[in-house]
Amino acid sequence: MCGIIGYTTKRTDSVSVALAGLKNLEYRGYDSSGIAFYDGKKLDMVKAKGKISNLEEKLSQMDIASSCAIAHTRWATHGEPSETNAHPHQVGKVTLVHNGIIENYASLKEELIAKGYEFKSQTDTEVATAYIDYCYSLCNNKLQALVDACKGIRGSYAFNVIYEDEPTTIYATRKDSPLVIGYSHEGNFAASDISAILSYTNKYSLIDENEFVKITSSIVTFYNEDLTETSNEIKTATWDAAQYQKNGYDHFMLKEIYEQPKVIQDIFNRYYSDCDYSDIHFENFDNIHIVACGSAMHASLVGKYLLQTYAKIPAMVEIASEYRYAEELITPKTLLIVVSQSGETADTLAALRLAKEKGAYVVGIVNAVGSTISREVNKCIYTYAGPEIAVATTKGYTSQVAVFSTLVLNAMKQKGLLDETQEAEIKDELLNIKPKLEQVISQRDTYLDIAKDIYSHKDLFFIGRGIDSTVCMEGSLKLKEISYMHSESYSAGELKHGTISLIEEGTPVISIATNENLFEKTVSNIKETKARGSYTIFVTTDAHDAVDFREFADKTVIVPKTSEFSQAIPVVMALQLIAYETAKLRGCDIDKPRNLAKSVTVE
Ligand code: F6R
Repeated sequence: MCGIIGYTTKRTDSVSVALAGLKNLEYRGYDSSGIAFYDGKKLDMVKAKGKISNLEEKLSQMDIASSCAIAHTRWATHGEPSETNAHPHQVGKVTLVHNGIIENYASLKEELIAKGYEFKSQTDTEVATAYIDYCYSLCNNKLQALVDACKGIRGSYAFNVIYEDEPTTIYATRKDSPLVIGYSHEGNFAASDISAILSYTNKYSLIDENEFVKITSSIVTFYNEDLTETSNEIKTATWDAAQYQKNGYDHFMLKEIYEQPKVIQDIFNRYYSDCDYSDIHFENFDNIHIVACGSAMHASLVGKYLLQTYAKIPAMVEIASEYRYAEELITPKTLLIVVSQSGETADTLAALRLAKEKGAYVVGIVNAVGSTISREVNKCIYTYAGPEIAVATTKGYTSQVAVFSTLVLNAMKQKGLLDETQEAEIKDELLNIKPKLEQVISQRDTYLDIAKDIYSHKDLFFIGRGIDSTVCMEGSLKLKEISYMHSESYSAGELKHGTISLIEEGTPVISIATNENLFEKTVSNIKETKARGSYTIFVTTDAHDAVDFREFADKTVIVPKTSEFSQAIPVVMALQLIAYETAKLRGCDIDKPRNLAKSVTVE
């Protein structure tokens, strides 16, 4: 969470460039923001509570010529969103922006207070600022001060530091939080991710953990902890700035929903026809763990279902923040699959590190190229879904499901469980999926119609069986996070064991039935809710169009029938669009829902 950017330039536009970059990082947090800049005489600072537009408004009233700036957009962890708690923080000679959490800030603060330091904010970052200042006062060497401070700090951080007595140079380092260095003719950058700098350059380097960087407008120098210079590869980004624009869509979420047919088709083309899973031999492992958070965990449940049902391989799915409590189950014969869109989620990263410590082999299904998780796994399978800006994931989730499908098909082949006819049918389906997904999107009127029925309700339920029950979890999360409606997802057969008591006259129940073998049972469960007054929205496939749904459904959504290797994708896309239209009717901030941030880099 939180986004940082630093820019030092031969020109005098560092503030406008840093601000433009910061806007592309707003998905990482948006409760306050701030910037520190050198105006040729002194380091000045402007902060604002709320969205970056508030900071922009303040800056627009100033006439600033500045060659160096560091800026921050915040997702509060220590202390409420306020100008005092907003970054940058300034103590003594040090000005700092920080992404991460300083775990031992309380004890450091006590030590520093004893040495005479005073604090204005409630943040851990102000303590880190003071600590760097203290280290600098001891050694009078800027890089050494940063190295020494990092040795005394426990936690995660990406730091951009400006020292008062060298105000056009940025010093940067990172541990467990992302940071990239960008290079341009006019100047150089250090930012939380490449999206912040792509309008200015596509040349970048990744910083290793505990690497230290000195950035001037013309030279970037990398050092290890001993302050020996290191070299770092300069890469060329393949994503371009246009991918970070809405391109005519009302919201990034809508744009990303519309991108799914192509993204999913590309995955099937890439990984089905020419997959490189030859180094994942399922039979070599005693147990398979799949670990992720939120929507990525929901995609993992689809993966587990497919793995068990079709490849006959049992697997355990665990929420990443809970995985350490299953530590006893991790052995050198464990295959851990971690799933992460951002590749930076702290809980997932901690799980992968724990498993590696225990000798497990770790495969990552990751979107963000070059992210920490992608770099630390033994094997990374990229989803290549392109940048996802909306805080609520859409193409991130479906692309993870698509990769799981290809992985499971590969496992089936390895085990001789896929005969030629079946393979040809599935291949034909997956390599021609795009029009089916476009068809789901084309039914916008149906989703709006349903949204109008449900948007004023307080509670809502999703029910389904088998793979549909996992899709319900994702549909429910999508609705909750962007529309703020209370929604719960239940296995259809489980509702009657308690929760059905919450169904009353008019309660909306979105029911999903895509699998022929489970169809009748699910319909029975729907009728149980209908008998108690539910308003039923029924999601099914065109394979069932002979059934008269009116008996139990008030509204129906029909998606194209596919095999279970891809069925979750069209269904969830319909649910994404229902959530989107509902949130819109409720006047919610769809791309930046309250209290959330895109990249959850705190545990
Ligand atoms: C929900 C959502 C989150 C993420 C979760 C994991 O819309 O986006 O639940 O899925 O925070 O994030 P990644 O996949 O980046 O590890």
